[in-house]
Amino acid sequence: MRVAVVGATGAVGTLLLALLERRGWVGGALASEVVPFASARSAGKRIGDMVVQPLADDTIEGFDVALFSAGGATSREWSPRFAAAGALVVDNSSAWRMDPDVPLVVSEVNPGALDHIGKGIVANPNCTTMAVMLPAKALHDAFGLTAMVCTSFQAAGGAGQKGMDELHGQVDRVREHDLVNDGAAAAASVESKVHAKTLAFNVVPWLGTEVEGGYSDEEMKLQNESRKILDLPGLKMAPTCVRVPVMVGHAIEVRATFERRADLGEAMAALRAFPNLELDDIPTPLEWAGRDEVAVGRVRADLYDDHSLNFFVVGDNLLKGAALNTVQIAELLHARGLVGASAAA
Ligand code: A2P
Repeated sequence: MRVAVVGATGAVGTLLLALLERRGWVGGALASEVVPFASARSAGKRIGDMVVQPLADDTIEGFDVALFSAGGATSREWSPRFAAAGALVVDNSSAWRMDPDVPLVVSEVNPGALDHIGKGIVANPNCTTMAVMLPAKALHDAFGLTAMVCTSFQAAGGAGQKGMDELHGQVDRVREHDLVNDGAAAAASVESKVHAKTLAFNVVPWLGTEVEGGYSDEEMKLQNESRKILDLPGLKMAPTCVRVPVMVGHAIEVRATFERRADLGEAMAALRAFPNLELDDIPTPLEWAGRDEVAVGRVRADLYDDHSLNFFVVGDNLLKGAALNTVQIAELLHARGLVGASAAA
């Protein structure tokens, strides 16, 4: 297969290239060539022995798979062009996720959605939704999910490299101030362009743009994408998204409610048996950064409702939340004979 990585110089794109190497695509049986693409600013730059290409009609020809992580606007314009030129596209942006002709896939949760790839594009879910989906699916299969209250604690890296750079740049300057007696002066001492407010030594309960009734687009993604992935259009969601001063690793506290009584022992068994989900008593994002699996812990029966459970989920937002699931989708497409030599045959 010839594989394009679009957005190859970004935080997720860099990981996509590393994962293709680590999972045996490069130099193995799967990829004959991997070509990195980025904006015109980066064209000509070298990544190892590869040269970054600009997006143009003549550079996008002849690919079997295109893995996209270059933002919504780039994806809206160039995913269909790659698809028209013969590639299957797996896209990380929010551009195509809610399109009814585009499957939205978590590899362990709903691989069957790949049966209908109308536009030649498959969408990778939002990083916060992704982590929640693994335990949610495990417990849904056991008890029948009806509602979730999700409160996220999202890392700076969810906003890409620029999100991490902004946090990193703020830490030394903010700590010079009196964080005990005059927090407002400390917060005002730095500029925030990526995050809604100063993130260093702080917690910011707002991500994204407002879409309806005081909810952000990030919060509505959690509702709408969960419904599509789990095929539960009536799933009741109460989402709140919060940015925290963590570099990589999203965490989410979930209260999930079910049709049937949710026995704690059965719940633990269902979570333990689910692929790529690990039980951890006190899961923290720092300890799970750089790991493929999603972690779940603090699993408790609800104090008032025996149909509800409370649990804490942690996942690397750049790996399972983005690059890893993208590559896993491409691997599923290959296993189904939809890309590469078997598709040509
Ligand atoms: P570049 O580095 O040339 O700006 P991140 O999410 O970490 O910010 O990364 C975004 C990725 O998307 C980068 O690889 C970036 O390339 C790429 N990108 C941004 N805008 C465009 C564009 N208009 N065309 C192609 N790639 C783009």
